[in-house]
Amino acid sequence: LAGDEVLVVSNREPYLHMRTRNGIEVQRPASGLVTAVEPVMRACSGTWIAHGSGSADKESVDRNDRVPVPPNNPAYTLRRVWLSREEEKGYYYGFANEGLWPLCHIAHVRPVFRSSDWEQYVAVNQRFADAVVKEARTDDPVVLVQDYHFALLPRMVRDALPKATIITFWHIPWSNPESFGICPWREEILEGLLGSTILGFHTPFHCKNFLETVDRYLETRIEHEASTISFGGKLTQVEHYPISIAWPEQMHDQPGIEECRISVREEHGLPADHLLGIGVDRLDYTKGILERFQAVERMLEAHSNLVGKFTMIQIAAPSRSSLEEYQNFEARVRAMVQRINARFGSGNYQPIILKAEHHDADQVNRYFRAAEVCMVTSLHDGMNLVAKEYIAARDDERGVLVLSQFTGAARELHEALLVNPYHIEQSAESLYRAVTMPEVEQRDRMRSMRSLVKDFNIYRWAGRMLLDAARLRQRERIMT
Ligand code: G6P
Repeated sequence: LAGDEVLVVSNREPYLHMRTRNGIEVQRPASGLVTAVEPVMRACSGTWIAHGSGSADKESVDRNDRVPVPPNNPAYTLRRVWLSREEEKGYYYGFANEGLWPLCHIAHVRPVFRSSDWEQYVAVNQRFADAVVKEARTDDPVVLVQDYHFALLPRMVRDALPKATIITFWHIPWSNPESFGICPWREEILEGLLGSTILGFHTPFHCKNFLETVDRYLETRIEHEASTISFGGKLTQVEHYPISIAWPEQMHDQPGIEECRISVREEHGLPADHLLGIGVDRLDYTKGILERFQAVERMLEAHSNLVGKFTMIQIAAPSRSSLEEYQNFEARVRAMVQRINARFGSGNYQPIILKAEHHDADQVNRYFRAAEVCMVTSLHDGMNLVAKEYIAARDDERGVLVLSQFTGAARELHEALLVNPYHIEQSAESLYRAVTMPEVEQRDRMRSMRSLVKDFNIYRWAGRMLLDAARLRQRERIMT
């Protein structure tokens, strides 16, 4: 694809300009999508089109709503699209996050489908498709469409730029045909996605679910062996590309492990030999945060020698907080922390420390490097990059990952302690096993997971997808 034009479209932007008391500050959002795609864009330049959602975003762009990023060392262009309150409410909060998000995650939260949200979703997809067409300098760009906010956009771009290579990546799970079938606009969504040249998911299961959903609800020709769908005379290749992180070659710009261990404990008034667990999530009901806390409680019940000796630090970035479901969830999380702390805490000791605020990557890394165990207990998750980030942070080859079997990451990280987060006893025992695991076993497990994440890093993810695209482009050129 050398020399080809690359355009990325996502809802969340990689850099937000925020107005603060100290002037305009640049923030990085808590988003697995951004974590993964940003290093790829740095490497291949091009233009990233996203919703301008920072409070000072408008002041930071040129006449064409563009801003070079990263701000300190520009490598590509961020083109911001502005949404009205109504558009944001219907398209982002409404259809994307009250409809599609619970529809695709099996977390037993009932999706909400409002016609008015759907109308905004259609209109905003069209606005972003128009932005793609406007930004494109050639008639055959490579367009990388990201996630469930833009299920209709691939078809819209395909209609305007028939020669474009459209690679759509769905960052969240795809549920089964029965679950998906309750969506009143299921056909429109499927047809929209089938405007893609390549449609990517994290795991073969999600691909299989998608093919079965199409099979159930659309008249198409599916080649199961080749994993292709032919619809309206066009072919879509459905493939799995497990997403990953940029492997940090060295951690030399980070404080050492010992320094992190000591400073994090000191900061919380804990002794040097205190055992620490870490959880890092957006405050989202799919992440299994309540189940994680219940596992901590169960462990302290069953192993009372750990009372006063173990603390779980939970970093929880506020997310989508104008939605009622998220407000209720936050209230439940806070109430549970209070209850468990009242039950097992004493004096300075709290078994759970909740830090419900935004933390930047360096701060999170410090906690990763200080903690004996990282718990990822999502009830359902496309991949979960926190699991991979924890592994990358442990260059001392110590630390244990407790990982939900319902994440995409569990398909790759076999040396984690895999749990069913709904099974509280099992998670509690795995947590106990993690904090008491001999160092040799920790090292063996960590070493093997580190070598996997290092090899299958984000450039591999992007490289495989772009290579598949290049092959298809070449075939198309030969045939036309
Ligand atoms: C998930 C989604 C991303 C999204 C991120 C953060 O990882 O797949 O598309 O960016 O959550 O959520 P937010 O709504 O804040 O963008």
